[in-house]
Amino acid sequence: MHSSLNPQSPPPDPTLVSRRRFLGFGIGAIGALIASALGIPLVGYAISPALKKKKEDWAEAGSVAGFQPLQPKKIEYSAFRKDGWIEETVKKSAWVILRDGGDVTVYDPRCTHLGCAYRWDESRKSFLCPCHDGVFDINGKVVSGPPPRPLDRLQAKIESGKLFIMEG
Ligand code: FES
Repeated sequence: MHSSLNPQSPPPDPTLVSRRRFLGFGIGAIGALIASALGIPLVGYAISPALKKKKEDWAEAGSVAGFQPLQPKKIEYSAFRKDGWIEETVKKSAWVILRDGGDVTVYDPRCTHLGCAYRWDESRKSFLCPCHDGVFDINGKVVSGPPPRPLDRLQAKIESGKLFIMEG
């Protein structure tokens, strides 16, 4: 029988094998270190806008000079919106009611049932939603119909005769 092993050659050195393994681990560890040193900042840079807490923004919604107290008025205004990488100016609307003492109440213009646009009915002194006959009083409380909760209020303030609405 023929053997490929040379009977004269010495047995493999066990320290040589462990050195090879050590070099393999070492190269792998250095590669992983380089990858994480480059990768972590890149991933952080890419996703940081999405993780940043949105900063509070007040949208200027125009003058309230012509507004009558306790007379709901629908307004249109523009708001700047930044969501992650997306920045845009969007058209919005709201119902505004001036209160005694300079306070202001601002409602989201969508019905709290299924989101239809409602309107103020002066003769009934109520907000009426045409979709399913939802009715709200001037304080936003549900008077009748299917809406599950009062009208949604938007945070608002008046400064120097101008209305500002919180975007959030
Ligand atoms: S959406 Fe307004 S009552 Fe249904």
